[in-house]
Amino acid sequence: MTSSPDLTSLYQMLAKGQRPILPSGEQRAILGCGYVGQAVAKAWRQEGHELWGTTTRRERLAALAELVDTPMIFDSTDSRTSLSFTEGLDGILVSFAPSKTSHVDIHHYRETFLGGLKLLTDALQKRPRETPLQLVHLSSCGVYGNRHGALTDESVRLDSLHPVNEVLAMAEDMIQSLRSESVNVCIFRLGGIYGPGRDIPAMLLSAAGGVVQRNGQNVPCWIHLDDAVRAVSFAFEHNLNDTYNLVNDTQCTGQELTDRLCEQAGLPLAKWLTIDTTDRVLNARVSNAKLKQLGFTLTHPSMVG
Ligand SMILES: NC(=O)c1ccc[n+]([C@@H]2O[C@H](COP(=O)([O-])OP(=O)(O)OC[C@H]3O[C@@H](n4cnc5c(N)ncnc54)[C@H](OP(=O)(O)O)[C@@H]3O)[C@@H](O)[C@H]2O)c1
Repeated sequence: MTSSPDLTSLYQMLAKGQRPILPSGEQRAILGCGYVGQAVAKAWRQEGHELWGTTTRRERLAALAELVDTPMIFDSTDSRTSLSFTEGLDGILVSFAPSKTSHVDIHHYRETFLGGLKLLTDALQKRPRETPLQLVHLSSCGVYGNRHGALTDESVRLDSLHPVNEVLAMAEDMIQSLRSESVNVCIFRLGGIYGPGRDIPAMLLSAAGGVVQRNGQNVPCWIHLDDAVRAVSFAFEHNLNDTYNLVNDTQCTGQELTDRLCEQAGLPLAKWLTIDTTDRVLNARVSNAKLKQLGFTLTHPSMVG
């Protein structure tokens, strides 16, 4: 294992100097270059910024070097990890999340989110107080829990019953505590993300004529990857410093959404259950009005059509 750190330095050295950074470009980091993080990296590269990007996996460093100038290993559950490289940057996207497993381990959730944000807090404490910084944190509309389909804006009380939602709310509090005269903190609460490689409409359509083992009466919410990326750029352009729901315009139940997709495709409807099959339920008509009032527009307002 002695050669691994050298390989990391080599990738970082090779990545450096690959391309010119625009004079107007900023120095930005993406903590967690997963589905959203990678797409943001592509957009930010086009805008001419110098980028740092993280992964937990050494074997991903080479691929990441294609997307960012300085690929880094960051694993918030590893006590040797540091985020000291973020100290002098102009902007940071916080987009790490526990890797998906069928079983949610709440201890791992806590360690990943809260441990990672503690490391970020420690690193940012060392920066000069007056240096401007834009932070964007990707949270989830899951924090609203079961509101029985009620219209839901950013001001409502968050669910504290489910431990995952409790962790996500604590993560929001931690990132908010970094706000200062010079540090803007924008929190986006995202709906379920879909787009290339995460084809939720196709997944829903695959249920046509069958039975979906979920409660079709619950109201979920969604956002297309393209709009998630555009919202992150919008936050940077407009120095956003508040919390916003980031969802499309669809405010219907899972059953209604699948019915519309099936009708449009000329397929038989799917049946859904009418009872919850999981203890973490999102059932809320989540409003995107606050972000739209600032002038943000959606390129994918609905999954249907
Ligand atoms: N996906 C959704 O539908 C959805 C909905 C609402 C909110 N969100 C939020 O949006 C953000 C981005 O989601 P996504 O779908 O892009 O996630 P993703 O594809 O699962 O990517 C997660 C990233 O976090 C990294 N990561 C995993 N464990 C980590 C740890 N312990 N320490 C540091 N980094 C770690 C992963 O590293 P590797 O590169 O090694 O895999 C990966 O780069 C997340 O904060 C998520 O909670 C997602």
